Amino acid sequence: MAQVTSGLRSVLSSPGVYSAFQTLVGATRLRKAICAEYIRANAGDILVDVGCGPAEILDHLDPSIRYHGFDLSQAYIDTAREQYGDRGQFHCADITQIADDAIPPCQVALALGLLHHLDDDGARGLIAHLYKRLAPGGRLITLDGGYWPSQSRAARWLISKDRGQNVRPGEAYRDLAAASFDRVELIRRDDLLNIPYSHAILVCTK
Ligand SMILES: C[S@@+](CC[C@H](N)C(=O)[O-])C[C@H]1O[C@@H](n2cnc3c(N)ncnc32)[C@H](O)[C@@H]1O
Repeated sequence: MAQVTSGLRSVLSSPGVYSAFQTLVGATRLRKAICAEYIRANAGDILVDVGCGPAEILDHLDPSIRYHGFDLSQAYIDTAREQYGDRGQFHCADITQIADDAIPPCQVALALGLLHHLDDDGARGLIAHLYKRLAPGGRLITLDGGYWPSQSRAARWLISKDRGQNVRPGEAYRDLAAASFDRVELIRRDDLLNIPYSHAILVCTK
């Protein structure tokens, strides 16, 4: 996995520290906005969340959503089960190595903060896999820190300090998804956190 887990960034491997840090930088507001503006899942949808972390997105999803979260970290998955046990199914797995049918057929797939942890082959392979599991008309929504020539120096510096080692220019994320999806919308948002940060959001429709 292309992820820095040494030095100061190692403490983020602890689910409690990760959640506290996320709250501090404004991730609760971010998740609320992403759910309302881009995910827009319908009641009863099957939703697959890859790289789900402690699955805090569930705070903003309708309880009728049938949720399946996948993450490499056993600690995050254990925390998700403790916090949201009755709200979904939680699987500890490397999502780039998982069997084809381990991901259920779904209406919505999420990869929030994941693609920048994967190299190009891993990200393209995962997106192709999710495309196969999505129903016709289904959507994949991704969100990652991204580089743009016009962003502030502070945003660029902060994004470069991420644990993920594959932060890309916004257009590079779009190109990865365009290898599988005909319809890919790239959205840049600089207003989702309490710190200077540029997000690349993809809404990919099958
Ligand atoms: C930045 S966190 C995002 C967590 C969550 N989606 C959120 O928005 O709070 C990235 C997550 O991706 C997970 N991850 C990284 N590589 C992975 C892989 N190959 N398979 C599954 N999960 C992975 C990490 O363990 C981490 O929980």
